[in-house]
Amino acid sequence: MIRALPCGVPSVRGLVAALLLVGCSTSSSSSSNTLNADATVSISPAAAPDIAPANALDPRIADRIPASFPESWRLPSAQTSTFAEHGMAVSNSALASDAANEMLKRGGNAVDAAVALGFALAVTWPEAGNIGGGGYMVLRLADGRTAALDYREVAPRAATRDMYLDEHGVLTDRSIVGHLASGVPGAVSGLARALAQHGTMSLREVMQPAIRLARDGFVVDSALASSIRGTERARGFEGARLFFPNGQPLTTGTRLVQPDLARTLEAIAAQGPAGFYTGWVADSLVAEMQRGGGIITLEDLSNYAPRERRPIHSTYRGFTLLAMPPSSSGGVTMAESLNILERWTQPAAAGSATSLHRVAASFQRAFIDRNSKLADPDFVPVPLEELIAKSYAQSLWNTIDPARATPTARVDSTMQALPREPMHTTHYSVVDRYGNAVSNTTTLNGSWGSGVWVRGAGFFLNNEMDDFAAQPGTPNMFGLVQGEQNAIQPGKRMLSAMSPTIVLDSAQQVLLVVGAAGGPTIITGTSQVILNVIDHRMTLADAMRAPRVHHQALPDSLTFEMGGFAPVVLDSLRAMGWSLRPQRALVNINAIMRVPGGWEGVYEPRRSGGAVGH
Ligand code: DON
Repeated sequence: MIRALPCGVPSVRGLVAALLLVGCSTSSSSSSNTLNADATVSISPAAAPDIAPANALDPRIADRIPASFPESWRLPSAQTSTFAEHGMAVSNSALASDAANEMLKRGGNAVDAAVALGFALAVTWPEAGNIGGGGYMVLRLADGRTAALDYREVAPRAATRDMYLDEHGVLTDRSIVGHLASGVPGAVSGLARALAQHGTMSLREVMQPAIRLARDGFVVDSALASSIRGTERARGFEGARLFFPNGQPLTTGTRLVQPDLARTLEAIAAQGPAGFYTGWVADSLVAEMQRGGGIITLEDLSNYAPRERRPIHSTYRGFTLLAMPPSSSGGVTMAESLNILERWTQPAAAGSATSLHRVAASFQRAFIDRNSKLADPDFVPVPLEELIAKSYAQSLWNTIDPARATPTARVDSTMQALPREPMHTTHYSVVDRYGNAVSNTTTLNGSWGSGVWVRGAGFFLNNEMDDFAAQPGTPNMFGLVQGEQNAIQPGKRMLSAMSPTIVLDSAQQVLLVVGAAGGPTIITGTSQVILNVIDHRMTLADAMRAPRVHHQALPDSLTFEMGGFAPVVLDSLRAMGWSLRPQRALVNINAIMRVPGGWEGVYEPRRSGGAVGH
């Protein structure tokens, strides 16, 4: 593995020039891993437009405008950026991004790399990277075809509408913690399907980095150590033996070896999805269920199949959005919000009260639809085309008072603010030299999933059942108040907010590959990176570090990142009637953007990760 700035180039100008002229093979930036001697790449993206473009770019893309944020804003410029000429992978784990880059350098395409990355994340980022959960993948292939793969978990056959209510009809926490909280995992089936359809390498080849990392181990870095320290849920279950040896969390610098997980990965590499959904791994999962009162059966596992969906195609100011359709709400809600915002012909200045008012009012309206009208389309009718129609956006735009917030219709909600559930979803973005792009989000849902670890097979299970309306009208873990259409039914997919997205420029070239973790803030955070790039013409580094806001209709409050907005802006918003709620950090995003001469990859500056390219 060649690491950051192998040519020792100090600036982005020099870096890209070196990549182009000297053929320097790899660049990367990674989280401040205290054990890793490699320096984090720190570059000034403002210099990037000076590089001669390799191909004609829309001037709106080539000519980025450096952004300015309040003095109080804590995130420095471009600290998590990497520039590369040919291909790039960005994720919350530098080791997993390296696995993807390994495939890219061997001539694999973005799908080969993404699948390698997905399995590696299950080893190196076990809080969210997974084989016991599910997710969504949006693809834009070099020949212009697009695809959307829904490998969301499904409710087991024995699931019932009221399975999480106690005898008094009160919602319990069993949709969040323990064996009953898991949907039937879709990750292995989804990754294998993507590879079989769009990859060029074998499952065995792309899984080698993951198997190596599990079998030989890797050194726990400060990010993983802090994630382990921060999880209480996993302590109560069998995985505690591995992650809390002698009752103490693994510390930075420890080597983490996962022999059981390595055996499971070997079984998948050898037999494909059958190695997970049948045979000894499936038997172990079902035995685990039976030990803890769970309901997933061998039949549930062998019946699991991903769904191939048609990606949402929407437009925003001449750019094309390829986004995830239901069973995720992500694409519809983003498209609806952006359609409303597009009604203003001129974007307001970034960070201004006018801009935040418009953004919040648009999110608020789109979330009202999201919470009441979206669900698994295989079970309930979903008015997808209506919701993303420009004419519908116009009718919603008409309801926005330019000077006043509109209260969300009052619904009894016990949630007063977004819960501080740690991030346990993860997004990765990959592009290759051939012109393919993959945007993938995967999750266990809550903190280390349900906490349940499959004995003998070495992986955590999701607690995705909480994404159903376990009791329609009652807020879930993310404060989302959802309706009957998302009630539990056997075989149904729970509504998601995951929003893997690809943005094309006016020449239909990939501009941006982006997506996030953070429950409902996934939708609003991903949208804001897109807005920052298109409306405010920010570099990707600035678009990612820019302070974020969130509104999800209920609770009826506008959450904002502390220190990111001028006090006078916040005063104006209050005067307009917004109920403001500060939060330290919102959303965990990993993105790649086309820049002159190649790609800029940026991992979440509020978290940790690695952007690795060649
Ligand atoms: O699918 C969803 O919308 C949720 N299960 C995502 C959860 C999440 O992003 C949690 N952490 N950041």
